[in-house]
Amino acid sequence: MKKILIKNIKGLVQAGEEIPAVIKGTHMHILPVIENAFLALEDGEVVAYGPMDDWQGVTDWRDLEVIDATGKYVLPAFVDAHTHTVFAKSREEEFVDRIKGLSYEEIALKGGGILNSARRLGELSEDALFKAAKERIERLISYGTGALEIKSGYGLTVEAEIKMLRVIKRLKEHFPITIKATFLGAHAFPKAYKENQQGYIDLIINEMLPVIEAEQLADYIDVFCERNYFSVEQMEQVLTAGKKIGLKPKVHVNQFSIMGGIQKAVELGAVSVDHLEEISQEDIDALKNAATIPTILPSCSHFISIPFGNARWMMENDLPVALASDFNPGTTPSGNLGFVWSLACVKMKMTPEEAFNALTVNAAAALELSETHGKIALGRRSPVIITKEIPSLAYIPYAFGDMHIERVIV
Ligand code: NIG
Ligand code: FE
Repeated sequence: MKKILIKNIKGLVQAGEEIPAVIKGTHMHILPVIENAFLALEDGEVVAYGPMDDWQGVTDWRDLEVIDATGKYVLPAFVDAHTHTVFAKSREEEFVDRIKGLSYEEIALKGGGILNSARRLGELSEDALFKAAKERIERLISYGTGALEIKSGYGLTVEAEIKMLRVIKRLKEHFPITIKATFLGAHAFPKAYKENQQGYIDLIINEMLPVIEAEQLADYIDVFCERNYFSVEQMEQVLTAGKKIGLKPKVHVNQFSIMGGIQKAVELGAVSVDHLEEISQEDIDALKNAATIPTILPSCSHFISIPFGNARWMMENDLPVALASDFNPGTTPSGNLGFVWSLACVKMKMTPEEAFNALTVNAAAALELSETHGKIALGRRSPVIITKEIPSLAYIPYAFGDMHIERVIV
């Protein structure tokens, strides 16, 4: 048995049996920190923690690694509840087009965007996709990500969507961290179905979903509900069919426009509604008293220069805001949640504590991992982060762009 004792921890963050499974907006500023603490793990499982004064000492030194964390913080690892980590190639030529004045939507209408990624994915083998995604995930773990959602959606044919989901399944088996798979066949209409949108929806429902069910390839179903993509009615058709085979909805809504997608997703029992750069009072009202987690993706806003989600307004309305990366080659070529933490503070005026809760407890809720992730508590095996020596917790989002993590224990 491998035992790890971390002692003299400057601050053990988010450790406690009483921390709730979801933290509502007006409570998100509360972040427990045990000063001068210890944490004991056995085969990754938390067996004891608390102030150093309560530490009982060591009786059995066999297989024990002792880590002195003087000046360092220990945190539960981040949960990334929204990514597109499996993709073929980067798209920096679109980045340059945007610098020269084109918008994300204009580039997409010219055949760039999601269709560009789909063309490139079609050409790559399952093995090549797996290898590239594996390297990305190794990097994400080093940035402190301890659980991850990955979407399909760059296939857009039966063959290529299934290929993506099989890659995600292999990634799940390969990594010690929890990975969840989301089927996003309804990411964009392929060119061949431009004039026959119902034909593509039928393909998703009648050809893709049966294979996904037979091979158990997905945990969730997603739709990009947006102008020029899928309407609210089209989203409802796809989500309803997905629910019939046990896939819960987690959807892209309100990235560029308000179309009523949030209300419909809540009605359909969505686990989360993601993006929310645009939001109305009606949307907020729909989310009050719903179990659906509003998930904001500030790196996407940053990268394609669109508004940042109004986290403060959502929190004032007591909504349990979560944050995720949206890691993808088009709108967010970074899966670094430390950067998301910083953006949330600087651009969305979340305090470091509020943003941390959004990246851990509430993000775990957005991935239905509340029982295992988001906090440090007895019996849990979720990954933990050990920081470098830093003056305070707020220093992490403050000193953006630097790497403050020394080690991630998975
Ligand atoms: O979440 N908005 C839809 N999907 C992705 C972007 C996809 C792409 O451009 O490749 C997103 O931002
Ligand atoms: Fe996305």
